[in-house]
Amino acid sequence: MYLITGGLGFIGLNFVNYCLKKNKKVIVIDCETYAANKYYKISKIKNIIYYKKKIGDNLFPIFKKYEISTVINFAAETHVDNSIKNPNKFIDSNIIQLIKLFNCSKNYYLKLNNIKKKKFKFIQISTDEVFGSLNKKQPKFRETNKFFPNNPYSATKAAGDMFARAWFKTYDLPIITTNCSNNYGRYQNKEKLIPKIILNSIKGKTIPIYGDGKNTREWIHVNDHCEAIIKLINKGIVGETYNIGSDYEIENIKLVKLICKILDEMYPKKNRSSYFDQVKFVKDRKAHDLRYSINSSKIKKLTGWKTKINFYDGLKDTIKFYVEQPNR
Ligand SMILES: NC(=O)c1ccc[n+]([C@@H]2O[C@H](COP(=O)([O-])OP(=O)(O)OC[C@H]3O[C@@H](n4cnc5c(N)ncnc54)[C@H](O)[C@@H]3O)[C@@H](O)[C@H]2O)c1
Repeated sequence: MYLITGGLGFIGLNFVNYCLKKNKKVIVIDCETYAANKYYKISKIKNIIYYKKKIGDNLFPIFKKYEISTVINFAAETHVDNSIKNPNKFIDSNIIQLIKLFNCSKNYYLKLNNIKKKKFKFIQISTDEVFGSLNKKQPKFRETNKFFPNNPYSATKAAGDMFARAWFKTYDLPIITTNCSNNYGRYQNKEKLIPKIILNSIKGKTIPIYGDGKNTREWIHVNDHCEAIIKLINKGIVGETYNIGSDYEIENIKLVKLICKILDEMYPKKNRSSYFDQVKFVKDRKAHDLRYSINSSKIKKLTGWKTKINFYDGLKDTIKFYVEQPNR
């Protein structure tokens, strides 16, 4: 049985939906921070057993009751701007509580018989941001790159990755860590770049762009990320880390232009002006990383995984979702 933590968040909820489509019963835990999709009536859905809990709570009885075979940990504080304003919450969830979850998993794992031990895996979902920032010419991040986190969010995620390694090496907890690039798709919180551009555009608000808009991100559709996680649950080697990316890099300003162009076509304004007219350049974020870029050859070679969703198609679906959802 899968235990999905942070399952009401953006990627977690997409992963839960992915499992439901495959008729898989899952246990979901989330403490319902502001980032959780609370309107989604998760406890009413067949094949989901839901608990409103923190990952730092004592989850041992849940592990035991449902004979958990795989933990997929999405729970984290995730917004860089919030981490700059208040790092403490990030240190608590992404490090202190994470270690409690590692310990709980370890205590459960050590009591399993050898057959169940062989099957057990803990997938720690991390980010490419732990590697820091690249200039426009530097080669893509590989798993062997040094960590150079530049903001409190990425520093807490890097710390989590380090503890994952230590709990594998010291206590044999079978952890696999993934470092994925920027995700986009349905159910992401409106504070994040793509939902914010779409929603501000459609609501007639200014579209803020940090600095000169030249920061570059590699965007992967969340469903492609979910498929990569499933591949690693089935074929990943414990103790290893895997980069996950799409090879689709785009500067923020070009991304905004593209979203506005699609909106102009799908939802034209009455006066026929472009949504791009709402763009306003604002003071840059502190320590704003210039570029992230991911080399995913390790996971591809091991599992045969590759992305399936073309960026333009995925973006159109995402735009439609945000514009047409009732509670935007
Ligand atoms: N969004 C991205 O582009 C991206 C890219 C790479 C990696 N990641 C990683 O993927 C994971 C999920 O990211 P996301 O974008 O879905 O985040 P999110 O902020 O949308 O969701 C996080 C979820 O975790 C829950 N949560 C937070 N702290 C918790 C705690 N202590 N106990 C229980 N639940 C808790 C929240 O209520 C929320 O539902 C994170 O670890 C993040 O670092 C995200």
